[in-house]
Amino acid sequence: MMNMLIDSAHIPEIERLLDSFPAGGVTTNPALIAREKQPFKQQIQDIRRLLPEHLPLHAQVIADHWRDIADQAKALYNWLNENVSVKIPVTAQGLYAIRELAAENIQTTGTTVYTAAQAVLAAKAGASYVAPYVNRIDQEYGHGAGVVKTIVDLFNTYRLNCKVLAASFKHNRQILAVMEAGSHEATISPELLSHLADHPAVDRDIHAFREIWHSQYGSFSF
Ligand code: E4P
Repeated sequence: MMNMLIDSAHIPEIERLLDSFPAGGVTTNPALIAREKQPFKQQIQDIRRLLPEHLPLHAQVIADHWRDIADQAKALYNWLNENVSVKIPVTAQGLYAIRELAAENIQTTGTTVYTAAQAVLAAKAGASYVAPYVNRIDQEYGHGAGVVKTIVDLFNTYRLNCKVLAASFKHNRQILAVMEAGSHEATISPELLSHLADHPAVDRDIHAFREIWHSQYGSFSF
């Protein structure tokens, strides 16, 4: 079954969802962290502390050049007691950094993935996860879930030991579509996660059942 992670850096939302939802970890990105207006290191460590040890935290680097990416990745790795998958944008420099970090057993997540080619290259470089950006691909006249399906198929065909962590969702149907595509994981905003089970017909039906029951029995007596 597809593992579902919380895509957020907002502590109260993460806490609420960890209590109420079988979350499989947390992902952040530079924009989500910056929105919290806290010192970066402190915020990322606070998020890590909320999570049980077995649940992963994916935290992203900012640098462009592979050496700076690797240095930032090592800083995150040390700050978070080695309990992190470092998100690295899949560029030529990013791929070089992923390879260097894999050689040092630092886990990475290839991110900002728009194409299956990026995903395969990241997996070959040694990334543990790749994060295709489903909604952003859809917005660019692509087919996000289709890209996810191609990546899943290629990883299976070539037995690449890398998980697909689908990211960037704006609608519930995109989440269903990546499940159908066989994505191993998906990271979802608190807002979408909270409303994943919603459907207007459900409230209508429950209300109708309750009305009929009350008209026959009045109130519930124990
Ligand atoms: C994962 O952490 C990605 O950065 C995130 O899902 C991107 O989502 P967005 O396209 O809604 O910004």
